[in-house]
Amino acid sequence: MDTIIIDGKALSKTIKEELRGEVERIKENGGKIPHLGAVLVGDNPASESYVRSKVRSCEQCGFKSTLIRKPANITQPQLLSIIDDLNKDEDLDGFIVQLPLPEHIDEETITLAINPKKDVDGFHPVNFGRMALGLPSYLPATPNGIMEMLKRYNIETSGKHCVVVGRSNIVGKPMSILMSGKSYPGNCTVTLTHSRTKDLKEETLRADIIIAAIGIPDFITADMVKDGVVIIDVGINRVEDETAKRGYRLKGDVDYKNVFPKASHITPVPGGVGPMTVASLLTNTFLASKNEIFD
Ligand code: GUN
Repeated sequence: MDTIIIDGKALSKTIKEELRGEVERIKENGGKIPHLGAVLVGDNPASESYVRSKVRSCEQCGFKSTLIRKPANITQPQLLSIIDDLNKDEDLDGFIVQLPLPEHIDEETITLAINPKKDVDGFHPVNFGRMALGLPSYLPATPNGIMEMLKRYNIETSGKHCVVVGRSNIVGKPMSILMSGKSYPGNCTVTLTHSRTKDLKEETLRADIIIAAIGIPDFITADMVKDGVVIIDVGINRVEDETAKRGYRLKGDVDYKNVFPKASHITPVPGGVGPMTVASLLTNTFLASKNEIFD
């Protein structure tokens, strides 16, 4: 089978270039420049790196960005007060509070405090509920990125059997809703599987599309998939590798090498779903600046 590699890195670059073009046109016409805010609490190295990448991507697209850094010992009321200010800031179209937060801060309380109209992470229950009802909403970054990949590679989804592996609130659960939705990409018959699923192989063997988001390296093996399957691999697992510069390398949830020959389309790790997430955040911020989701 001639397998098509879904190149998330290239696609993310294309989306950012498109956004940059849109912003240039807005600037020429004196319109509102998209403005993203990011709150970073503490000094978790992974969070620092994610937020840096988000801010850098804003610059690349001509967006405004505001980074608010606070020490790990910030109190919950102090953080809520910052969120209140950001909710009221008229120039700011959307903002994110980078997770995880220190243990003394309740992430749910923080998420609920963000005005859903500015919730470009798509984590607020109002956005989740709107998505589930098929109403315009800010989609969380990973599901948004996956939908965009399916769209831009013209992958047929209508009437297909989609098996989602993993039921997290930010990937598996929303993907199962989106893929069963009455629009493209969607109209699939969806099976949502998880750690308690019996005979997972029996389910994945029937899949035309597999979305693997279980967080276990090489979990989906070649004997678990049928010929012609579309593979979306959400896993970003660190596995020890002494030959690698950092002492580890990234592996997906799918045994890429052995599944590849059976797949019609497959996302690599790295360079697949991962790079799409920042593009999704920027897309949401752009939509927020145009008030296209909520009026
Ligand atoms: N931490 C890891 N991923 C994310 C994300 O998409 N948004 C926020 N706010 N925090 C994260």
